[in-house]
Amino acid sequence: MKEFKNVRINYECDTLIRVENKNYQIHHCLDREDILVDMDGKYPTLFRVIKANPSRSEDGCVYQNICGGCQFMHMTYDYEILHKQKYLKQLLSGFSENVSFAPSEHPLHYRNKCQMTYQYSKSKKVVCGFYEEGSHRLVTVENCLLQSTEANELILKINRILSQYKIEPYDEQKKVGVLKHIFVRVGFQTKEIMVVLVTNGEIFPGRSQVVKELLKIKGITTIVQNFNARNTSIVLGERQKILSGSGFIREKVGDYLFKISPQSFFQINSFGIKKLYDIALSKAFIKPTDIVLDAYCGVGTISIFAAAYAKKVIGVEVNRHAIADARINARWNHISNVEFSVNDATRFLTEQAKNRSKIDIVILDPPREGSTSAFIHAVGFLKPRQVIYISCNPITLKRDLILFSQEHYKVQSITGVDMFPKTKHIECVAQLTYTEKSENKKKSV
Ligand SMILES: C[S@@+](CC[C@H](N)C(=O)[O-])C[C@H]1O[C@@H](n2cnc3c(N)ncnc32)[C@H](O)[C@@H]1O
Repeated sequence: MKEFKNVRINYECDTLIRVENKNYQIHHCLDREDILVDMDGKYPTLFRVIKANPSRSEDGCVYQNICGGCQFMHMTYDYEILHKQKYLKQLLSGFSENVSFAPSEHPLHYRNKCQMTYQYSKSKKVVCGFYEEGSHRLVTVENCLLQSTEANELILKINRILSQYKIEPYDEQKKVGVLKHIFVRVGFQTKEIMVVLVTNGEIFPGRSQVVKELLKIKGITTIVQNFNARNTSIVLGERQKILSGSGFIREKVGDYLFKISPQSFFQINSFGIKKLYDIALSKAFIKPTDIVLDAYCGVGTISIFAAAYAKKVIGVEVNRHAIADARINARWNHISNVEFSVNDATRFLTEQAKNRSKIDIVILDPPREGSTSAFIHAVGFLKPRQVIYISCNPITLKRDLILFSQEHYKVQSITGVDMFPKTKHIECVAQLTYTEKSENKKKSV
C-alpha cells in the first residue's frame, strides 16, 4: 500500500501517480483527496480514500468500481454538473464565450435501452451483466442504477425463466451455447416493452416454452429473437424473427409518436430527449420558407419536430431500418413535408453540393466519431444560413468546429445537455451561423 496526498484529477476522475519511474492512472478519485493505493496487483488501484472530498458520494452503486459503466457515480450530482460545465468551458470556450450547461432532472434510472451479456453463474444459473472496464470479464449486475427500474426487474424474471428451461449461454472461448445477449427497450410514456434475445444463429432449443413463460410477465409487449453468429462486440445481428407482438415499440416525445425497431437508434435518455430537441430547434431559427437537412436522422425524430417550422425537411441516415421507421413516423404524425433518404450523410450532401441544391439550415447529429471533412466542406459550399451540430462527443465536436470555422461558420453558442448523468459522456448543441459576406469566392466541391 502507498499513500498519496492532495491528489489532482483529470476530467475522467483519474489521478496520475508515478512509481519507480512509471506513470499509472488511479480511477474514481476526486480533487484534493488523500488516497491509499494498492500496489500489489498487476496495476496499482485505489484501495481506500483516507481524506475524502466533501462531494464524494458513496451511497451509489455496488458495482461502481468494477463495472466501469458509470465513471461519475462516486460524486454528488451537483459536483458532476460543475465538473462537466468546467470541462466544456475549458475545451470549447475558444469557439464561443457562450458555453452553458443544462443539467438533468433525473440523474438515475433514465436509460430506455439496456443490453447485457449472458453467462453461467458458478451455480449454473443463467445470469447477465456488463464487461468489466477494458476486459472480457463479465460483472453480473442485478440492479443497474442507470437502467429503468422496469428493465432491471424484468431481466431478473427473464433470467429465472432461462435458468428453469436450461437455456445455455454462449461461451465466447469455447464457442458453444445459444444465448449471447439480452436487449430491452422501454417506452417510458407508452409503457410498451420490447425484449430481444440475441442468439448465436437461429437454433434456440426451448424457445417456444420460454416465449410462453415470458408472455406471462406483465409489461412485455413484443419479443424478438435476433441472430448474431458473428464474433464481434456489436450486440445485434442483421436478421431477426419476431416471436410475439409487433417487433417494435412506440414511444411518445412531446406530441409525437415514434416507432422504434430493435436496430434503429433512439436517444437513450427518455427524460432528456424533448429538452435536447427543444434546445436545438430554439437555436435553429427555422423560417416557413426554409429547406432543412436533418443529417444522421435516425428514426426521423428531429425531422418531424423541425417540419412544423419549415417548408420542407430532408432526413438522411445510413441505417435502412431507421429510415423505414422514419417514413412510418412521418405518416403516424401526419407530417407531409418531410422526405427521407437511406444514404451515407457525406455522400448525400456531396451530391447536393454538386447539384447546387438549396439548403437553408443543416442540423447534424452524427455518432461519436463525429462528421467528416467532406461533409463539412459540402456544407461550406452550399452555405446554409445556420448549422446546428448536436454531438455526443465534445472531442470530435471540437475537431469538426475547427473545420466549420475554415468554412466561415461562427459558433454562436454551445449548450451542454446532460443526457448521460453519472457517466463522463456529454451531449452538446453547437449553434453556428454563416458569416462570409462575399459570394464571389471561388470554391469547388
Ligand atoms: C447520434 S444518432 C442520431 C439520431 C437522431 N438524430 C436522433 O436524435 O435520434 C446518429 C445516427 O447516425 C447514423 N449514422 C451513422 N453513420 C452514418 C453515416 N455515415 N451517414 C448517415 N447516417 C449515419 C446512425 O445510424 C444513427 O442513427
